[in-house]
Amino acid sequence: MGQKVLVIGSGAREHTIAYTLLKAPTVDEVTVIPGNPGMERDGIKTSQLSVSNHAALCDYVKDNAIDWVFVGPEVPLMEGIVDDFAAAGIKAFGPNRAAAQIEGSKDFAKQIMERYGIPTAAYRTFDELAPAERYVREHGAPIVIKADGLAAGKGVTVAMDVDTAVKALEDIFVDHRFGAAGAKVVVEDFLEGQEFSLMSFVNGEDFWPMPISQDHKRAYDNDEGPNTGGMGAYSPVPQIGQDVVDTAIETIVRPMCKAMVDEGVPFTGILYAGLIATADGPKVIEFNARFGDPETEVVLPRLTSDLNAGITAILDGKTPEFTWTDKGATLGVVLASDGYPVNVVKGAHVPDIPVDEDSHVFYAGVAAGEEPGSLVANSGRVLFVQVHADDIKSAQDKVYGIIDKLDTTGMFYRHDIGAKALR
Ligand code: AMP
Ligand code: GLY
Repeated sequence: MGQKVLVIGSGAREHTIAYTLLKAPTVDEVTVIPGNPGMERDGIKTSQLSVSNHAALCDYVKDNAIDWVFVGPEVPLMEGIVDDFAAAGIKAFGPNRAAAQIEGSKDFAKQIMERYGIPTAAYRTFDELAPAERYVREHGAPIVIKADGLAAGKGVTVAMDVDTAVKALEDIFVDHRFGAAGAKVVVEDFLEGQEFSLMSFVNGEDFWPMPISQDHKRAYDNDEGPNTGGMGAYSPVPQIGQDVVDTAIETIVRPMCKAMVDEGVPFTGILYAGLIATADGPKVIEFNARFGDPETEVVLPRLTSDLNAGITAILDGKTPEFTWTDKGATLGVVLASDGYPVNVVKGAHVPDIPVDEDSHVFYAGVAAGEEPGSLVANSGRVLFVQVHADDIKSAQDKVYGIIDKLDTTGMFYRHDIGAKALR
């Protein structure tokens, strides 16, 4: 008999995790809480329990004989969901509350990087407007302003002039735009270079890196518009050489995993390093305590080994095996509701999307529509169309060949996902 797995979350990332687990020969059943109705099209079960009711989740796991739990998003990790599962004797893959601070507090992550010499932008932390503003005026632009806590990828302003930087500080300290997440602000030097995401399976000091990917964080083509959770991604990233990846593994991932152990907060789960390949080598922009979204949607499809077997090996303290294809390119595009990320207009009709064996739709912000089986948009990022092809150009042609023919009224998407690899 195969295993039963529970995935916590509701986005396209969790759809991809659940889909990959369900394909594993060692898995019989995958449930996602709360999930979304788009996932059900792939035979994934969903259940509408509240993710913040940890006691009810523990009961659910026991009543349904679930073997282990994968926690997708950062918020439940920071709320200590893994600690609560552990206390109930339930195996869950993800960092505990203490280790999740690597994402939950930019200041915590910065302090560790500073203490262990892990390359990142120079920074200062402030909890008041006046000294922060003084520092920004002395330092000059470009400069980067970050709300300290979780802000769903939207708490960062890359200011190319001082006025924009001061306005960002005022938004945080005077208008309290990020609530408690903005009680502290990290002001850091602007780093120049291409971004890439390096995610690893981690168990204390041991880690197993995945192929790298590149997200597109700005809302509109040519990296214009506001920062979002991510509008599209691809993997591999040919313009980032293997030497840069190897350097990132040795100077960033390895020492960070060891630092967390040495600090008494060992990390287990997925460690996401958001990096910039600067002229001085790779440097950290941020760590996340979970899979990236949308990076997961292009990285996990490259996995050729059994995801369930790999993670259960880690949970059992054994050595896992993860293998990846190095053939071709995986690329995908987010369809988002009009107005995302500022004023989301929900309710767009979700069209049927024709896919084949080299393409798939991973659903995010969708709800059941009035017509039986139909879906409507109910959040900012609605779905992700993922394709695999021989190279990035063919993957781009293939994905836009699918999306450009759809009726996307009420939604928008970027037309240039993958463009940086083709310059
Ligand atoms: P974060 O939420 O920390 O990932 O930041 C969001 C985006 O802001 C990143 O993906 C980068 O594009 C940009 N960014 C953050 N920090 C820096 C930095 N120090 N230098 C240049 N760009 C940055
Ligand atoms: N795509 C960036 C993130 O997941 O934080």
